[in-house]
Amino acid sequence: MKDKKLTRESFSGSIAVFFATLGSAVGLGNIWKFPYVVGQNGGGAFLLVYLICIAFIGIPVMVSEFYIGRKTNKNVMGAIQELTPNHFWKSIGISGLLAAYFIMFFYSCVAGWVYSYIFKTIRGDFANVTADSANALFGKTVVEPLPPLAWQFIAIAVVSLILIKGVEKGIERVTKTLIPLLFVLIVVCGIRALTLPGAMEGLKFLFRVDFSKIKPGIILSAMGLAFFKLSLGMGTMVTYSSYFTEDTNLITTSAKVSVADTIVSLLAGIAIFPTVFSFGMEPQSGPGLLFMTIPLVFSKLPFGYFLLIIFFFLTAIAATTAMISIVEVPVAYFTEEKGFKRSTAVIINAIIILSIGSLATFSADKGSILGNIQVFFGRGFFDTFDFISSNILLPVGGLLIAIFVGYFINKENVVNELSNNGTIKNEGIIKAYFLILKFVTPILLIIVFLSSLNIIKF
Ligand code: PFF
Repeated sequence: MKDKKLTRESFSGSIAVFFATLGSAVGLGNIWKFPYVVGQNGGGAFLLVYLICIAFIGIPVMVSEFYIGRKTNKNVMGAIQELTPNHFWKSIGISGLLAAYFIMFFYSCVAGWVYSYIFKTIRGDFANVTADSANALFGKTVVEPLPPLAWQFIAIAVVSLILIKGVEKGIERVTKTLIPLLFVLIVVCGIRALTLPGAMEGLKFLFRVDFSKIKPGIILSAMGLAFFKLSLGMGTMVTYSSYFTEDTNLITTSAKVSVADTIVSLLAGIAIFPTVFSFGMEPQSGPGLLFMTIPLVFSKLPFGYFLLIIFFFLTAIAATTAMISIVEVPVAYFTEEKGFKRSTAVIINAIIILSIGSLATFSADKGSILGNIQVFFGRGFFDTFDFISSNILLPVGGLLIAIFVGYFINKENVVNELSNNGTIKNEGIIKAYFLILKFVTPILLIIVFLSSLNIIKF
């Protein structure tokens, strides 16, 4: 046992490890982003590419991040510095820190919308909801300038308070109980949605693969979503696995987390697309899709009012546990590398996130001045923060991590860590992991980048 582990906090056991990691992966990505990105990119074909990205890019990168984190017990920057003196690899830490901020700028805005929907539901705004009124209500939610900002502030404040309390007490307690509850409620939503008239159209949209729809831009989005979904490419999983215990099986944990996370996303899709088609809405509606459809799912259901409140409440929890893992990346860096007190680090980061994240919130009103500013190739603030983090920084971070662990780390060290010093008999799986990590993951990533930049054409 390494003595560092005695002085540093860690999760209390393997179930806690699983739920905490799942708590980072499961979030707005499953319930809000997955359905709307699948909707915008044409359904089944996108889903197929997404699943391939999870298997051949997501899981190998997650295992590599787990290796880096548990081997060193450090935040991403400290971990890389411990593993190599070569300054180039610090780029993993730098792009990770940047990605954490860019994600938080828009994620905290959407989390604010979710918080506000708990309040709106309690107030009875969805009492006689129709497709048109749900649509109008979402439109109104994002254009009022001050309430969304106040909700964004509340979302960031909740995350900050939990983070100040520390890893074990804060993160573990919340995720272990509430993630399973959220799962049950999404299953209820899915079953309800399937009983709506015309539900089959939604399922066909989600699962029928039309190969002609697979284009480079779509592949880049699917890959970006896979990174975003599994919290990869920015050091979150490095930081979390630095709190793992010695007996955590890194490969099976990564596979279980990826499968469970994908199931939650699919269930969210099964709840949303049948509803979209049943009520004659547009699958391409974009970021408002969740907010426009879920009130309809519950509308004519017994206890629908309470279920809708619980749904948004649990979604807010999922968003919060994911945000905790995002902000933990710069917080661990500030405390461990720069010597800040934990509470100071949390407060500084909260201020940065709210100040710049407010641009995402204000820009959601397309009629406002901020809503009309184009920041990055025709994208407004909200979409720019999202695109740069998910589709550029995370995949670049993932590529660097794959090459670093695949080619620059002593293979024996990795084998030892992945087999818990030979106590797990998994040589075959480790061999397959190396093969994919060295030859499939980086090549796929590079091809997707080059083709989306139009440098190579199919
Ligand atoms: N995986 C989270 C979600 O799907 O909502 C978002 C996320 C968390 C992305 C942590 C990146 C990250 F490091």
